[in-house]
Amino acid sequence: MDSGIDMNTTTQTEIEANTELAIGTSALNLWYGDFQALYDINLAIKQGVVTSMIGPSGCGKSTFLRSVNRINERLGYVIINGSIDVFGNNIYDPEVELVQVRKQVGMVFQRPNPLPTSIRENILFGHKLHNRDKKYSRDDEDEIVEESLQQVLLWDKVKDHLKRKATELSLEEQQKLCIARLLPVKPRILLMDEPCSALDPKGTAAVEELIWELRGKYSILIVTHNMAQARRASEECIFMLMGKVIEHTDTADMFVTPQHQETADYIEGRYG
Ligand SMILES: Nc1ncnc2c1ncn2[C@@H]1O[C@H](COP(=O)(O)OP(=O)(O)OP(=O)(O)O)[C@@H](O)[C@H]1O
Ligand SMILES: [Mg+2]
Repeated sequence: MDSGIDMNTTTQTEIEANTELAIGTSALNLWYGDFQALYDINLAIKQGVVTSMIGPSGCGKSTFLRSVNRINERLGYVIINGSIDVFGNNIYDPEVELVQVRKQVGMVFQRPNPLPTSIRENILFGHKLHNRDKKYSRDDEDEIVEESLQQVLLWDKVKDHLKRKATELSLEEQQKLCIARLLPVKPRILLMDEPCSALDPKGTAAVEELIWELRGKYSILIVTHNMAQARRASEECIFMLMGKVIEHTDTADMFVTPQHQETADYIEGRYG
């Protein structure tokens, strides 16, 4: 398995040389107390592309995503070594403020989690939180709401019901709304942890279409258990196994000519 890591290791110099990276990690290790969940992760995730992350349950996908958003650190027993650079800045640098990280890196979870308020208030919530010192007119806010909902292909559907409770929307619409409410804060990276796992096939197809639509405007890292989804909706793919990165390559290449036996076994459904 170590040979797999060597193949895909990006050195610190390479990461520094490549300012086009959305996320660059170097020797990232993470422990939950005594249990090591991530081993020596060296990843170079490109800007403006959709990257999928696959691997069997428990291999560390969510742990990795949560590290890029610095959510893990709220747990007192988590220890992190190494670095994670977001657009060239190490987000674990003591001088980097958490609020800045959260501004740049938005996250969407398995189950849509809109606030129990109106559609409009959901969209404006993060924006207001990050701009407490600024004043926005009603017109400005209307524009933000429209633009965000347009981007997630939801505007036409909800424009006449903006005061409706977000929790009354279908799951697919709620998940789109959860993506939309990140956008006014102008994130550069969207992390999505199995964003379609609570959706039916039609909802899944709609959210996949949206992810594809957002490609280029954002750097998207999406965890999925759905191989077909990884193939359809991502340009690059990362395969993880037991806390390690085994392979990171073009999605098409990974599924047609995987370079490692473990990858081939996984995508052919032999485990996980
Ligand atoms: N808060 C936590 N405290 C202790 N151990 C944890 C915690 N969260 C995850 N783990 C452990 O870390 C390992 C990686 O978990 P993680 O949730 O990142 O896997 P995953 O690849 O996202 O799995 P799944 O596909 O089931 O979502 C697992 O062994 C898990 O039990
Ligand atoms: Mg997970």
